[in-house]
Amino acid sequence: MYIYEEVKESIREELEEATDMEVTEKDIEKPPEPNMGDFSTSIAFKYAEKKGKSPVKAAEDIKEKMNLENIEKIQVKGPYINFYVKKDKYCSRVLKEAKKEQYGSSEQGKGKTIIVEYSSPNVAKPFHIGHLRSTILGESLKNIYKYLGYKTVAINHLGDWGTQFGKIITAYEKWGEPEKLKEDPIEHLYELYVKFHEEAEKNQELEEEAREHFRNLEDGAEKEEELWEKFRKLSIEKFKETYQRLKVEFDSYKGEAYYVKSGKSHEIVKEAIDKNVAEKEPEGTIIVPLEEKGLTNLIIQKEDGATIYSTRDLAAAKERWEEYKFHENLYVVGSEQNLHFKQVFKTLELLGYKWNERCEHVSYGLVDLPKGSMSTRKGKIIKLEDVLNEAQKRSMKAIKEKNPELENKEEVADEVGKAALIFTNLNQRKNKNIKFKWNKALDFEGDTGPYLQYAHARATGIIKKSSEKTIEKNTSKLIKNNELNDETERLIKEISEFPKNIKKAKEQKETQQISKYLLELTHTFTKFYQKCPVKHAETEELKKIRLETTKAFKNTLKQGLKLLQITPLEEM
Ligand code: ARG
Repeated sequence: MYIYEEVKESIREELEEATDMEVTEKDIEKPPEPNMGDFSTSIAFKYAEKKGKSPVKAAEDIKEKMNLENIEKIQVKGPYINFYVKKDKYCSRVLKEAKKEQYGSSEQGKGKTIIVEYSSPNVAKPFHIGHLRSTILGESLKNIYKYLGYKTVAINHLGDWGTQFGKIITAYEKWGEPEKLKEDPIEHLYELYVKFHEEAEKNQELEEEAREHFRNLEDGAEKEEELWEKFRKLSIEKFKETYQRLKVEFDSYKGEAYYVKSGKSHEIVKEAIDKNVAEKEPEGTIIVPLEEKGLTNLIIQKEDGATIYSTRDLAAAKERWEEYKFHENLYVVGSEQNLHFKQVFKTLELLGYKWNERCEHVSYGLVDLPKGSMSTRKGKIIKLEDVLNEAQKRSMKAIKEKNPELENKEEVADEVGKAALIFTNLNQRKNKNIKFKWNKALDFEGDTGPYLQYAHARATGIIKKSSEKTIEKNTSKLIKNNELNDETERLIKEISEFPKNIKKAKEQKETQQISKYLLELTHTFTKFYQKCPVKHAETEELKKIRLETTKAFKNTLKQGLKLLQITPLEEM
């Protein structure tokens, strides 16, 4: 256990003992002001009720009964009880903990498997900015779970099946250009898809042709199969380029098509009928009636016998359970699919699968990109690649102004640009919509990703400059002998709260828990270095303490940034 948790837990236990009531972690809070101690509780209200006393008196009573090793002072302020930690012991322990490479990590998830399904773009339809949010959010959640000791399986549930393939095959046969397909498959396929719809308005027969091609594809006809295979392969290669740039990695690219081709999609329809969960409508559609459950009915098979998107989700969930016996199965998908997932999970429950409770739709809001800020070729798709390039270009400008000497500008600019995009996505409650603004996202002084990278680079610089010739003395002794000033103490205490925030982020599945923490930590660091010179500290002992504090800060920020999938920079 980290010192922060240890102290909190000991307070909790003592409070239980003193009051003979159940006390939870939530009963112990962080005081609103630093001069009100390090931990605080309002449990005296409940205790007062129980004892028929006034809360103020109850608080006094509780205080009398408490005896805590790591606590220097207990103070009663009205009905509130505030706890002050033993500074030297606490702070030196924090500095030691925060030096470790994996600071904040734990083994709480040992033996548990978490499935995180995210990104999941569609072949031949654009990878849009909503997919970007899913990609970033999913990858970050995966990082957080991993850090806490869970085994994670990252799945990209590619949209690689559906009637659109009939249309694309039709269009490709008529207007396709193999060269263009090679060069930019996603763009070309999307062009063809758009053209198909334009032409189909004038010529009804195209729709019929498309249906025929799709039927052939479902029946495994060679020609269609070959084209489909090619479109899929080229598209994945292209997606992977983007993922590489974002350093996102998947364990599986099992897309929707797999569930059709393996027969699993039809199997689950049969199962649903056998279990009386689904029924056939007079015109031949098979549905799961859900109206009585307050939802709309879920179609799982069309009248022509083809399965659909939802069927494949049912089959996929079942297979995931059989393969991984997951502790949680998370779907990081936009809020426009809220109903869909409710229907799917309800159907799993009706099928008798108790593990439906372990499935969760991690739903997120929309991202609004400013119009006209990028070359959206033909005005139709916002290509992710273009967004990343634009981010890089804009950071390059800022870097050239700030640090013209910097060596690997291109690379740094790409990292800064990505940080701006990623942080804007993650520093927001997930169900909130995002209005993306370039200037705001890239502001080195605002609450942004680049601001955090900049602080990391600054801490690195301070450490480099002050590291030679510091005294070899044990930090905990130094802290004992030297009065820490407020800025140093506050920074160290803030550092101690990192592990707590990782856990909270996991519990709520909110990356904002970490991003907000890192902002606050960095604001505290800024105050620290304005007040406390490191290299030119008043004494050698203070220099050493401040250097150790800066190192602890740097490592905490670094680990936090990595959880958010942002690259900590040494220089920028
Ligand atoms: N391919 C879908 C889309 O782009 C998202 C898939 C979400 N995942 C799922 N299991 N249904 O809208």
